[in-house]
Amino acid sequence: MLKIKWDDSLSVGVNLIDDQHKMLITRLNDMSNAVEMHQGLEKIMKTLDFLIKYTDFHFGTEEKHMTKFCYPGMDYHKKQHEKFKSTLNNLVEDFKEEGATEVLANSIDTFLINWLINHIKIIDIEFGKFLNEKGFECTE
Ligand SMILES: [Fe+2]
Repeated sequence: MLKIKWDDSLSVGVNLIDDQHKMLITRLNDMSNAVEMHQGLEKIMKTLDFLIKYTDFHFGTEEKHMTKFCYPGMDYHKKQHEKFKSTLNNLVEDFKEEGATEVLANSIDTFLINWLINHIKIIDIEFGKFLNEKGFECTE
């Protein structure tokens, strides 16, 4: 299964967001490992739960700053976040019904990992540029 390794090509130029992306990647890799190693239902559910909670927290941070700085691309960006969240929820349902099947493993690779890389490299980097142009400095 795919694994993501954070490197400078994933930097959005804002430390707060980069740090959260690193944590998100760790949680996604943990979940991918748990599925790959055929760990038990409970263990996989736990990694999924961590991932979902952290995803909500992270998207919330980005969206809070979009609102604060009146980001023109906010609607589109938020829609992408919603799509990811519903994909994640669907995976949880599939997993509950069918367990850690190969289909689930492929979905993690295709939908979650590839989505996240593309999202960061295109949509988040654009948002990071905007924040830097606005003179954003993280004080939180
Ligand atoms: Fe985003």
